[in-house]
Amino acid sequence: MKFTVDATEETKSIRSVVAAPKFESGLDFFVNKLGFKIVMISPADNPNYAILNKDQFTIALDKSAKAQPVFIEIPIEDQSLIGTDLTGPNGTRVEYVPVVKRQNQASDLQPIVHISRANDTQWVHGRAGMSYRSLTGNHNEISVASQIRIKGSGKVDDWVHYHDVSFQTLFCIKGSAKLVYEDQGEPFMFKEGDCILQPPGIRHRVLESFDDLEVIEVTSPADHATFSDFNMELPNSTVAHTRNFNGQQFTHDTPNSREAATYRDSTSMTAYRTSIGEASGNQGWVKEIYSHAKKEKILTPTSIGPEEPLSFFLWFVKQGSAQIEVEERKETLRSGDSICFPYGFLPSMEFSVLDHDSEFKVLEIGF
Ligand SMILES: [Fe+2]
Repeated sequence: MKFTVDATEETKSIRSVVAAPKFESGLDFFVNKLGFKIVMISPADNPNYAILNKDQFTIALDKSAKAQPVFIEIPIEDQSLIGTDLTGPNGTRVEYVPVVKRQNQASDLQPIVHISRANDTQWVHGRAGMSYRSLTGNHNEISVASQIRIKGSGKVDDWVHYHDVSFQTLFCIKGSAKLVYEDQGEPFMFKEGDCILQPPGIRHRVLESFDDLEVIEVTSPADHATFSDFNMELPNSTVAHTRNFNGQQFTHDTPNSREAATYRDSTSMTAYRTSIGEASGNQGWVKEIYSHAKKEKILTPTSIGPEEPLSFFLWFVKQGSAQIEVEERKETLRSGDSICFPYGFLPSMEFSVLDHDSEFKVLEIGF
């Protein structure tokens, strides 16, 4: 006999079928071990089929099903249970995982230097029509830096989303884009030379891009997740420019708001500091560094790289060229090239500038 009463919502939901030749022990596993509740069971005298539910996940436990074993992940806050593996009926595997599962473990990474050349590069297609070029190399990074571009001009097929990050910044090196951010009012133009701090969890959307947009984006950790938010429409009605997102604030920094200062101990380079440092609660920084040498080459002091250990350090050459020395290697960096320390810079790596031309402009991002 079929149902003679109205089915509950749970009985109408899509479900995974778990074969349970030993029905009773299968039921015990899901109900008593995993905490599923019985939505429906039949027949009463000798059950062989049950619909079970937990946290909006529904399974049909079926004694006579011919089905492959099922693998279930249960997200859990309790760190002590993470990694626990259980085996249930017909080889069902259950694993407790962190709420946000990360694929990579980056605990034993040694600091390295990675040089990425503009004309020796691979662009890969990412989401929403964007092409990506890695500046950190194909490593198992704790941080990721990319050059991102969108050809031409037009609407961008993006949606409201957010990222599970500890530090994320974007710098526009070419073209422009129309962006909108949670609690930051109307959409605005992100133009060449502008920089944004994208605090953890802030909802945002790229609406349009113009004139072959190119952006440098640095994110930590590399294996962060992107979540869609289907409930929020942007722009939203709240405007709160100073809102705190996990200790950070949104900032849109423009070139005319930056003050000049000598770059470290250089006699030929000037640094323009952005507001990313302050907005990120001093998690990281973004600087533009300009040569102020006039035509002739000027030898800078040799120790121009960072003097202290860092988690991450990047130079992206926007214009001109420089000769650098790193780990006793001499390299010439030209426009579009970058040098990166994707998982840590140590002073022993000895990164220094030996020479640069008068056109030299470099973007520095560190944390
Ligand atoms: Fe995003």
